[in-house]
Formats: sequence, structure tokens, C-alpha cells
Amino acid sequence: MKIAIVPGSFDPVTNGHIDIIRRTAELFDEVYVAILINSSKKPLFTVEERIELLKHVTKDIDNVKIESFSGLLVDFARAKKANCIVKGLRAVSDYEYEVQMALTNKQIAPEIETLFIPTNGLYSYLSSSIVKEVAKYGGDLSQMLPNEIIEVIQNKIGGKQ
Ligand code: PNS
Repeated sequence: MKIAIVPGSFDPVTNGHIDIIRRTAELFDEVYVAILINSSKKPLFTVEERIELLKHVTKDIDNVKIESFSGLLVDFARAKKANCIVKGLRAVSDYEYEVQMALTNKQIAPEIETLFIPTNGLYSYLSSSIVKEVAKYGGDLSQMLPNEIIEVIQNKIGGKQ
């Protein structure tokens, strides 16, 4: 059985993430979307909220499970018996950091491969930070997020001001 991990912060999940999760689910038998619990960051959404949002937007994909993890990604991958970490690459600017992470992971867990999937051109400008910035100033999020999440983020950011 081929099992993949799609890791990230997902604060919040964007159309770009969903595209990568969907394409990974086509390639593997089982996919774990792994949300990093990072105590040094101040996320907009709690881990529980991010899990719920991800479950909601992937509910039509049968072979996707949503979980959170702390510590090393490769330890989570090993616990799930996953042989591959899948990351979306948006632009050259992503490359250096992503390769650094991939080589680090390869060094500490040689049996686990990293696979880069080029992000859909429609979403190559997109990031969770950009989405939060646009939401903060009331911009149009309709090309960036599923409709259900637009309302959630607007309520959240509106509630923060
Ligand atoms: O969405 P992000 O913030 O770019 O995701 C980064 C993530 C979660 C993939 C990365 O920070 C990670 O794997 N963190 C876990 C700690 C780890 O395994 N570090 C070693 C590799 S650098």
C-alpha cells in the first residue's frame, strides 16, 4: 500500500492546498494531511479548527485523512507507514527552502522520499498569509478559498478587530 503525507500549517487551507491534496490522492492509496502543531507560531485558526476545515473541504475524497502532529515530520510519516512526503512547489522562491527540508528529511529518514508537485498555475501566487492579508482588508477571496471557508475567515478576522 502506497501511503503519502501532505504536511503543512494550513492556516487556513487554500485552493492551492486542496489542489495538491486532490492530486496526491489520485497517486497514492492513502493520504494523511498532517497539520504541524507549532507552539512558536501564533496561528489564526486553532489546530482543531484547521482539522475541521480540512475535513470539510476534503469530505468527497475517500482516501484522505486529516491529522495533526508535533515533532519531526519523518517520525509522523514512519508512524503512519508512509513512504512519501508530498509538497507543492509554487515558484523558484519555494525551491531553496523546500529542498533544504527534503534533504534534511532524507538524511534522517532515508527510506522516505519527498515528491514535489508543481502547483496549479491558477494558484501559484497563493499562500495562507496572502489570504489572511486580503481577508483583513475585505478583499475578494472567491478565487482563493472554497466558499464555506470565506465566511469562516471573514467572521474570524472581523471578530479579531
Ligand atoms: O505549510 P508550511 O508552514 O510550509 O509547512 C512546513 C512543515 C510543516 C512541512 C515543516 O515545518 C515541517 O515539516 N515541520 C516539522 C519539523 C521537522 O520535521 N523538521 C525537519 C525538516 S526541516
